[in-house]
Amino acid sequence: MSVPRAVMPVILSIIGQKGGVGKSTLARAIAVVAAQGELRVKLLDLDIGQQTSVRWSTTRATSRSLSKIDAQAFSSVADGLKQIGDVDLVVIDTPGHLSPETFEVARASDLIVLPTGTSSDDLHPTTLLLYELENTGIARDRLCVALCRILDAKEERWARHYLETTGYKPLGGSLPERLGYRRAHNRGKSVIETGEAPLNERANELMASVLRKILQHVRAANGVYSAH
Ligand SMILES: Nc1ncnc2c1ncn2[C@@H]1O[C@H](COP(=O)(O)OP(=O)(O)OP(=O)(O)O)[C@@H](O)[C@H]1O
Ligand SMILES: [Mg+2]
Repeated sequence: MSVPRAVMPVILSIIGQKGGVGKSTLARAIAVVAAQGELRVKLLDLDIGQQTSVRWSTTRATSRSLSKIDAQAFSSVADGLKQIGDVDLVVIDTPGHLSPETFEVARASDLIVLPTGTSSDDLHPTTLLLYELENTGIARDRLCVALCRILDAKEERWARHYLETTGYKPLGGSLPERLGYRRAHNRGKSVIETGEAPLNERANELMASVLRKILQHVRAANGVYSAH
């Protein structure tokens, strides 16, 4: 991916109110996609208890065929951002519960991705969190919703409609619930690197939407108009 470097690093965080919704999944995939695009990436893992992203990068590092992803655990975003080094993109993975630190992360981020499932049990807290973030002064165009763990196309359409009626257009693409994704994680791979091409394509579509958001942010920060 060719992006102007003047406003680097871009800080992108993944947050959510629920556990297991796909935060670490997206964090890992975004880091891999950006690294494939020759961006220098650092993955900050603020889930100091689980350290899912750090453990995954350690597994990944044992494979000769996979690119290395630099992941490090920190107990606060302030500590993490002090140690990012010379990178283009910082991806921040966060714990599965909300805390004052979640809002610190959001404030420190250029873009915030909220993964959500498609049931009303998932969409309701996601929408509440979106409102809460906006109420703390975070502009709507910094908030991105990613539909994850999709089981049914009809439910996905309904979820898109639900979010749009609340004023939030979800990112294009979505991540279905598939065993292949879990297997990939077990081997230090990301959801764009499974052994199944259709799964990789599906994940890549969502990742392309995230990359477009990053590019839009960079262009806007550089004062370049983008119609996309
Ligand atoms: N689309 C999917 N299909 C199948 N398995 C998935 C999918 N997304 C995530 N998983 C698996 O579900 C589990 C939880 O996902 P993940 O770690 O991304 O969630 P999380 O939001 O980071 O959870 P936590 O809140 O505990 O940090 C992992 O084992 C992951 O491999
Ligand atoms: Mg996680």
